[in-house]
Amino acid sequence: MKIVVDKQKCVGHARCAAAAPEIYELDESGYIAFTAKEVPHDLQAQARRGARACPERVIHIENDEADA
Ligand code: F3S
Repeated sequence: MKIVVDKQKCVGHARCAAAAPEIYELDESGYIAFTAKEVPHDLQAQARRGARACPERVIHIENDEADA
């Protein structure tokens, strides 16, 4: 599973990090700190939760095994 972030659309709600702190690091200004990241198997549920928590729909999940 891979997370892809539309970083320009992030407005700093920080709900991604609240829902999944091990995945969604924020930068010093409170915006999401990365544009793409591979997610280890044991953190995938948390990654989905964090993606759903973003009200701006900034976070997209690719190659989700749950879709297969
Ligand atoms: Fe940004 Fe959404 Fe997280 S707006 S800080 S990606 S909750």
